Amino acid sequence: MAIQISSDGCTFTLQTEKSSYQMMADAHDVLLHLYYGRKIAAENLEERIFRSDVGFAGNPPEAGEDRTYSLDVLPQELPGSGVGDYREDMVRLYHADGSCAADFRFESYEVQEGAYRIPGLPAAYDTGEEKGETLVITMRETASAVKVKLYYGVFEKENVITRTVCIENQGKEAVILDKALSCNVDFLFGNWDLIYFEGRHVMERIPERVPVRHAKVEIGSIRGTSSHQYNPAMILCDPAATEDFGSCYGFCFAYSGNFVAGAQKDQIGLTRVQMGIHPVQFRYTLAAGEAFFAPQVLMSYSSEGFTGLTHQYHDLIREHICRGAYKHAKRPVLINNWEATYFDFDKEKIVKIAQQAHELGIEMLVLDDGWFGKRDSDNSGLGDWYTNEKKMDGTMGELGDEIHALGMKFGLWFEPEMINEDSDLYRAHPDWALRIPGREPNRGRDQLVLDMSRSEVREYLYERISSILNEAKIDYVKWDMNRSVCDLFGHELPPERMGELYHRFVLGVYELKERLLAHFPQLLLEGCSGGGGRFDAGMLYYAPQIWCSDNTDAINRLTIQYGTSFFYPAGTMGAHVSAVPNHQTGRVTPFTTRGHVALSGTFGYELDLNLVSAEEKQMVKEQLAEFDRYYELTHEGDYYRLAKPGEALMAWGFVAKDQSRAMVTVVSTDVEGNPLAQHVSVKGLAEGRNYRCSYNGIVHDGSVWNNCGLTLKKVLKEYESLLIEWTEV
Ligand code: GLA
Repeated sequence: MAIQISSDGCTFTLQTEKSSYQMMADAHDVLLHLYYGRKIAAENLEERIFRSDVGFAGNPPEAGEDRTYSLDVLPQELPGSGVGDYREDMVRLYHADGSCAADFRFESYEVQEGAYRIPGLPAAYDTGEEKGETLVITMRETASAVKVKLYYGVFEKENVITRTVCIENQGKEAVILDKALSCNVDFLFGNWDLIYFEGRHVMERIPERVPVRHAKVEIGSIRGTSSHQYNPAMILCDPAATEDFGSCYGFCFAYSGNFVAGAQKDQIGLTRVQMGIHPVQFRYTLAAGEAFFAPQVLMSYSSEGFTGLTHQYHDLIREHICRGAYKHAKRPVLINNWEATYFDFDKEKIVKIAQQAHELGIEMLVLDDGWFGKRDSDNSGLGDWYTNEKKMDGTMGELGDEIHALGMKFGLWFEPEMINEDSDLYRAHPDWALRIPGREPNRGRDQLVLDMSRSEVREYLYERISSILNEAKIDYVKWDMNRSVCDLFGHELPPERMGELYHRFVLGVYELKERLLAHFPQLLLEGCSGGGGRFDAGMLYYAPQIWCSDNTDAINRLTIQYGTSFFYPAGTMGAHVSAVPNHQTGRVTPFTTRGHVALSGTFGYELDLNLVSAEEKQMVKEQLAEFDRYYELTHEGDYYRLAKPGEALMAWGFVAKDQSRAMVTVVSTDVEGNPLAQHVSVKGLAEGRNYRCSYNGIVHDGSVWNNCGLTLKKVLKEYESLLIEWTEV
């Protein structure tokens, strides 16, 4: 049983294969958090709580004269607001009389078979044979008719517990929701580090590790998207934890909009960890009878270091988040014309690229930005999703026929959420763009943002996108989003509901994607936001791959793909071989190395094949064969980080689930005179089984490889790389 409940119905223990999570409704119906960590028997752990009068920690009325009972120091599942817990609150309410108070107490529980769904939002789902279990705990607010349902979904095999809350106003008067986080975990004891992933455009998801102290460590986004600057995922870990050892807890938000996440120690040494929608610019009116569902947090615990945690998230995301025709199907190797042509193309150029790509065995042509409206630069045309038939010398249907006649798939770029002021759409519907009356809007890449919360905006986009998809039998869409969102004003929303717009925007984007996928079930969606500005588990529910970064430099990509790998599988990372000198960094790396780095992603090309030498064309063919050969490993295998960015020899690897094969990629990032030996770690092979290494032909037991690694016979030159395979013999 994944969910174990004590006979008095008060203690709840959630069990996965390797972890346990316990909470308990105490004598005053406060829902206490008692344990999260390595698997234990489902025995009540209330004794873990040390009771003392801490001073300046007030007592709720039910405590009577017991000054040791205080909400200010108890570990809780749903910390309230304004009633005696002075730490960060989780759900904040403003009532009709203007008061700000929320005191939540246990009311009832229910166990449901299967994973729960969240209306309009992504959520980890069950697959046929594997059914999760859900615990729903209803909490009542003591002085109003607000109920909060706490959802806990248990994925036993993946060691994941999902969480969210649903806040219901069962009263007659409106209540204002000023903050509604999705999860709060109070770790009673311990010192912790927090690892989060910071970045910027073209340098996303760089891990940073800091100790959790009494000053809050907090990350987040108020950009309308999950953002380049902080990814909505973090790891709380033992300060001694490494890739291979130590306790670590992952928190990963399945949401693509504003978020906040952080950790802080309180006065008694308890660490409060939270994640949810950012309260800045969030204010939701719950009218009588209305409910608000928060997005889902995916929590996972591993006692086996970051690698173990990563495997759990990769399994969960591949199996229970990614959906659709391409969930496990092999993704087509594509060529994208962006870095080859930018806006400077016509039909002839595009067809030529497709023909050349096809001759080499590339399977799909993706036509990027610039095929529609008046769009020869990035300051006009967004919104006018009509083919520029002059530039394309005919209709998109005709181009689609030509590409398909080659035997290739055809993909197209859209940036649905955006509008340029210089567009027919803007001239017809200026009020569809987000802007506050009486204020000049902020422009990003010279564009404004459409109000995706409006149904007629989504209707227009659906009609335009679907008609082009139908006309040209489009197989793939790159859905881009190239600016941060501000100037929030909904022309259709009453003033008291303006604070809902950021969230309603995300719901609108999700709804449009869902509708398109329902109508075009074979469509492959690739997410993108100036590269990896919206790389999150929410987006992966719709788009099983996301363009990892606009930075295609193979050496920078080592850092970006390393950071991305902590939560997201390689098969979700868009990665292409591009031209040198690299357009973002000017660096020159060998064609082979660029191929090896991109092979650990969805794989494709983004360069002008006219400028590629005969020798490199031959390499393309070899790379395509390698991609096929290693696909099962890179897309379904277990991922191992074998070195860190900054080390002179970067390395990572994949091991097949049945441990019959493995591959390791090494890239030399720096060289020295009179070089020392280069040594590569090997992990994950089975002890007691023999493996031959493709690099030196040597056969060893898995235990030998795992513990001794591989010493290179010849030191690699700068930026040189190797792809090494281990096969069971
Ligand atoms: C964004 C994307 C790029 C490309 C351009 C087109 O920057 O990340 O890959 O599609 O837009 O304008």
